[in-house]
Amino acid sequence: MSGNADHKNNFKEIMGSYPTGVTVITTSNEEGEPFGMTVNSFSSVSMDPLMILWSVRKDATEFDAFVHAEKFAVNILDGDNIEVGNRFASKDKSNRFNQTNWHLSANGIPVLNEVYAVLECETVQKVEAGDHIVLIGQVLDLKKLSDTPMLYYKREMGHIPKDWANQIEAKSN
Ligand SMILES: Cc1cc2nc3c(=O)[nH]c(=O)nc-3n(C[C@H](O)[C@H](O)[C@H](O)COP(=O)(O)O)c2cc1C
Repeated sequence: MSGNADHKNNFKEIMGSYPTGVTVITTSNEEGEPFGMTVNSFSSVSMDPLMILWSVRKDATEFDAFVHAEKFAVNILDGDNIEVGNRFASKDKSNRFNQTNWHLSANGIPVLNEVYAVLECETVQKVEAGDHIVLIGQVLDLKKLSDTPMLYYKREMGHIPKDWANQIEAKSN
């Protein structure tokens, strides 16, 4: 049943309309070469200890780098990071790091400078899941850098709608 074409199309439509944020997950290899890719399968998992997960497609170009990495960073994009989100999803890898402001953190992980927040993680578990591997990370350090994360809905990246954000702000005051 799970291989049925109708189910696959329904799954794509349902999941494509399920709103998420967008992250760029970054790491480096033993030679210090930075790697990064746009990811929306990110989710929080545990408060004690702090843990998160995301999944990487087995045939992704960056698969080996992430599966062998001891550490990675989840760079949660903000509404102004649409170009960054597209850059790290593009087949053309040449501009990913040379057109993006980033630095090496104290944990030795390449992290992006102008994003909503950064969670630096140590890989603690890898779970086989169909055509993906789920990577579970324990948070080593975290920083919130700006006000609002990006929203991803029906394949579009954008700002959280202003009137909705204002309503929420008004409720909390
Ligand atoms: C919004 C968005 C979310 C994505 N989420 C994931 C993800 O969770 N896991 C994944 O493996 N690829 C994900 N991708 C695809 C990768 O970003 C993309 O395949 C990769 O950067 C391009 O490299 P490749 O096609 O050469 O592997 C996502 C792409 C976009 C645009």
